[in-house]
Amino acid sequence: MLNSSKVVGLPLSRIDGPLKVTGRAKYAAEHFGPGMLQGYVLFSTIATGRIAEIDTSEAERFPGVVKVYTHENRPPAAKKDEQWKDEVAVPGHPFRPLENDRVLYDGQPIALVVADSFEAARDATSIIRVRYEAGEPHTDLKREQDNSYVPPVPRDKQMAPPPPRGNPEGAFAQAPHQISATYSLEGEYHNPMELFGTTVIFGQDGELTIYDKSQGSQNSHDTVCKIFGLDPEKVVAHNEFVGGAFGSGLRPKYQLFFAVMASLDMKRSVKVEMSRREMFYLTWRPTSIQNLSLAADAEGRLQSVMHHAMHATSQYEDYQENVANWSGLLYKCDNVKITYEITKLDVSTPGDMRAPGAATGVTALETAMDELAYEVGLDPVELRIRNFIHRDQNQDKEITSKALHACYREGAARFGWSERVMQPRSMRDGNDLVGWGMATGVWEAQLSPAEARVRLSSDGKVVVSAAASDIGTGTYTILGQIGADAFDLPLHAVSVKIGQSTLPKTAVQGGSWTAASSGSAVQVASRMVIATLLRHAQKMENSPLAKATEEQVEVADGRLVLEANHQVGVAISDIMDAAGVTFIEENGKVEPDPSIQKKFSAYTHSGVFVEVKVDEELCRPRVTRVVIAVAAGKILNPKTARSQILGGVVMGLGMALYEEGLADHRIGRIMNPNIAEYHVPAHADVEDIEVIFIEEDDDKASPIGVKGLGEIGIVGVAAAVSNAIFHATGSRIRSFPITLDKIL
Ligand code: MOS
Repeated sequence: MLNSSKVVGLPLSRIDGPLKVTGRAKYAAEHFGPGMLQGYVLFSTIATGRIAEIDTSEAERFPGVVKVYTHENRPPAAKKDEQWKDEVAVPGHPFRPLENDRVLYDGQPIALVVADSFEAARDATSIIRVRYEAGEPHTDLKREQDNSYVPPVPRDKQMAPPPPRGNPEGAFAQAPHQISATYSLEGEYHNPMELFGTTVIFGQDGELTIYDKSQGSQNSHDTVCKIFGLDPEKVVAHNEFVGGAFGSGLRPKYQLFFAVMASLDMKRSVKVEMSRREMFYLTWRPTSIQNLSLAADAEGRLQSVMHHAMHATSQYEDYQENVANWSGLLYKCDNVKITYEITKLDVSTPGDMRAPGAATGVTALETAMDELAYEVGLDPVELRIRNFIHRDQNQDKEITSKALHACYREGAARFGWSERVMQPRSMRDGNDLVGWGMATGVWEAQLSPAEARVRLSSDGKVVVSAAASDIGTGTYTILGQIGADAFDLPLHAVSVKIGQSTLPKTAVQGGSWTAASSGSAVQVASRMVIATLLRHAQKMENSPLAKATEEQVEVADGRLVLEANHQVGVAISDIMDAAGVTFIEENGKVEPDPSIQKKFSAYTHSGVFVEVKVDEELCRPRVTRVVIAVAAGKILNPKTARSQILGGVVMGLGMALYEEGLADHRIGRIMNPNIAEYHVPAHADVEDIEVIFIEEDDDKASPIGVKGLGEIGIVGVAAAVSNAIFHATGSRIRSFPITLDKIL
């Protein structure tokens, strides 16, 4: 655990904030090299078929154009390892740009124009002539759902449904209260502020310096080294600043491939930047259809849970996420059946998007729980409390901590839930019907293997470094806070270096695991530095710390001292002088502890309370108030933590009410690939959001007691909104987003 907490726990502003708001923080596409060329991508306009002919001759003659790449002239260097799977790949054949003449989805990159300006490259793509042999597109999940299948190769063990337990069908049939319904969610598309871009600086000896928009510099680095057969020592990938990603940057994107391919081929620096439109061709939260059946006894105790989930994937990969397993672990129930299938469509491979799986599955579960509450005639909070369990029945394990009762209690109190009248359409504000709804959220608290380096100099300054990323989460700041506390320093005395592939090994920033994992690694490395300091101190003449053990000492006020008596100690500068060193540096490492994993599961939880107002004539819903209480272990920085939850809630409002890729299935194309027509919540859509943290003492979820906050904020929000709309209007809407035509 963390020792003293002077800096940890403070609501400090992010240390990278000034760089970001003054434009000094450089994003991937803001780097430049001498003689740099610009690439622009051409996309297929069919969703399935093949390229019969591609004529680039006119584009090649276009002023400023240097070269045009297609599947016909892709450099051989680009296929050293066609099968290489990146760190977070899914089963199947990873997409490789220009691999052959096949078209697998609308918007697939089919050519790259490289020119001496962005404009020349872009304009030249418009005069490439393509003749296709087009097939008939299959992009409508509803029509293709009979072709769904159980993924033959699970993405990972955790994603496979738990074995069925009890007698779910029998218990369902016998229970006095039953609900059974189908829930559907349209596909959602990633739209972080920063678009994907890669700048490759080609060095004098052929070494590559790569700035890539990514959630993991080492994943980008390893991917290009493998695909292009490069010497890992001659490639450095950077992602010091990332303008949001939410999962879109977990897997390397095609602009990285293209920029490296062209750079190696021409021995020049090359940049490839995406347009907003391309965000709709990349990676997305898949369209899903779920069936849920819940049954309860007269007191509302769950007797049966049956959850079948199905979502889209591409023709070339089996994307998978954990949609339905939550239904077997969030509440107590002895009769459970969970099934999970995917369906191939002519679309790009879906990908992780903030709380992948849970955001989808818990939306269905928590809407169904609200339906059950009305069926039984119980307050929705009370129904959940009656089904509380402090055990993971899916895995038959204990739970490290679950302060969910406190989330319900505190959230409900702040919201004023006790004033709620159960009957729908019973609360009003002028022309508005008022609805109050709630839901539970749950997400995994994971620890991923992580390393970090800590360097303490004789002047008392500390440098913390790791390949970790900060995609807007506050990683710079919280790693600095942990380093500051370890050496009793103010935050500004600690510098944090992250976002570079050469730094100590760190997984991609995802799964909400960075704070727990990299934070613990910094703590371990700091303790190792202190242990080394102690060894040096003990070699000094008449050392007052001669008999002290590592566990008995800490740093206070520039001295290494006994924890029990700060009078006894030696100044750090004296220790280093005596040892003849100017700094001490150690690498720390954490990984999941199998002895804990065997016995325990770790999750974060939340209670979300939502008020909607629905204009009775226009049926337009507005979310006027959200109170979310979150239990996620120790909170390192309440300010950055709150930002994480606010962001999650706002994305949840998008999922509930606005975000949807509108496809013309006759041609298999997304028709609203821009943020004018694909609406992500704007300021005008976001009213009051209050975030409450219920701190948990948890020494098992991670060594520093942190569980992570990146994703829990979105889970349950769409269900709470849907439940509030039901309460306001009496319309139960099971299809998301809830656009006003569905309320009418
Ligand atoms: Mo998150 S969807 O693992 O970036």
